[in-house]
Amino acid sequence: MISEKSDKQPSLCPIHDFLTENAQRHRIRCYMPGHKGVENPLDITEINGADSLYESDFFGSAPGIIAQSEQNASRLFGTVQTLYSCSGSTLAIQTMLALAKQKGGGKDHIIAGRYSHRSFINTCILLGLTPSWVYPQSYLGADISVWDIESKINDRTMAVFINSVDYYGGRSDIKAISELCKKYRIPLLVDNAHGAYLKFTERDRHPITLGADMCADSAHKTLPVLTGGAYLHIGNKKYCENAKETMSLFGTSSPSYLILDSLDRCNKELTEHPNAIKELCQKITVLKCELSAMGHHIAPSDDIRLVLDCRAMNSTGFKAAEILSEFGVECEYADEYKCVLLFGYSTSDEDIKTIREVLKANTPPLFACYSLPPQAEHIRAACGISPAKAFFKMKQRIELNYAVGKVCGTVVAPCPPGVPLIMPGEIISQAAADMLARRGVKYVETVI
Ligand SMILES: Cc1ncc(COP(=O)(O)O)c(C=O)c1O
Repeated sequence: MISEKSDKQPSLCPIHDFLTENAQRHRIRCYMPGHKGVENPLDITEINGADSLYESDFFGSAPGIIAQSEQNASRLFGTVQTLYSCSGSTLAIQTMLALAKQKGGGKDHIIAGRYSHRSFINTCILLGLTPSWVYPQSYLGADISVWDIESKINDRTMAVFINSVDYYGGRSDIKAISELCKKYRIPLLVDNAHGAYLKFTERDRHPITLGADMCADSAHKTLPVLTGGAYLHIGNKKYCENAKETMSLFGTSSPSYLILDSLDRCNKELTEHPNAIKELCQKITVLKCELSAMGHHIAPSDDIRLVLDCRAMNSTGFKAAEILSEFGVECEYADEYKCVLLFGYSTSDEDIKTIREVLKANTPPLFACYSLPPQAEHIRAACGISPAKAFFKMKQRIELNYAVGKVCGTVVAPCPPGVPLIMPGEIISQAAADMLARRGVKYVETVI
């Protein structure tokens, strides 16, 4: 069903139009959900005219409201096709790996940045894929080199998977990596969970613009969208066929219309305020300069984050986060080294002003620590068996001390950042155990 507004001109938010009209009709709701509109009048399940997320025909002549809205998003992001996800980037990552496998001619190896999110390794377990890790220059970083990727390519390589933007706001050289992938005819898949906003910055740095075949964006992380709202963007039409059906393999059959509504309204917001992200990023750049002038060490990052390099200020990210929290400023992430403040579409000038004032009153000498943790190092664990084999074997939960030399059976990924420190199938080394202990891990599941 086409939104009624489409007779005149296509609606900027067809899902929202439908849901508000539906709510105003005051009918007795003899359909799901059980709250009958009392919890929220816009919340429905699939009803007549509401389209269906995994069946909405993006390319059809009479697209339903979801397909129309997805087309709006696709136009905004400049993609061949954009699919909505109501289960975050996790569902988009599951779908893009499954699509790459379908077109992969039986290949089952995937070259990936070591600091990929747990949703990636979980999907490898589900799909029986074997990752081949590429280590970045920096701890938790996205800065992996094109040469390192090239050296791993072989005739079993199904795809290259990178996580860019990383948790500290670092990026991969997506353009160079995509050129390499094109040379070898391997798809480039990007976990852009933290970078949906990159389409709207001064320079368009979105992965699809830079040549990725597919990418997953968590709209909810940087755009004004409810938690769970995300996009699977497709830049190569080869992957459009079956995309919806493939997503339905992993997703709930009752996707949230409140999340769809939020994704839908975000299109309107971004269309009507095309400079909002640019202006926000400019304000953050000014804030970073002001804080540097006050003596704070600001780590390099993307434009929507402020990352305090606490180690360079003889402190820890935990300490900085604690001080900020005393003043009501809650950061996105802190560890032994850095403190990450993530801004977003709805950050106000007042919020930025408060952060400036708090950090002006708390310059580095005030949060120095006496003993600093050792420098971060990569865990380089040897692979015993494949992640899927390890995961589905019998396992036992044992104290970390006794796990050295054994094969890890599950993903161990303290959250945030949700980045696995050791993967299922890897042999737990002493160095890995020490690192896990520092992260508060006491027990692990090992393969029997
Ligand atoms: C880098 C990265 N990728 C993927 C995900 C999964 O995203 P979502 O929570 O939208 O499913 C996250 C979540 O924090 C993440 O940080």
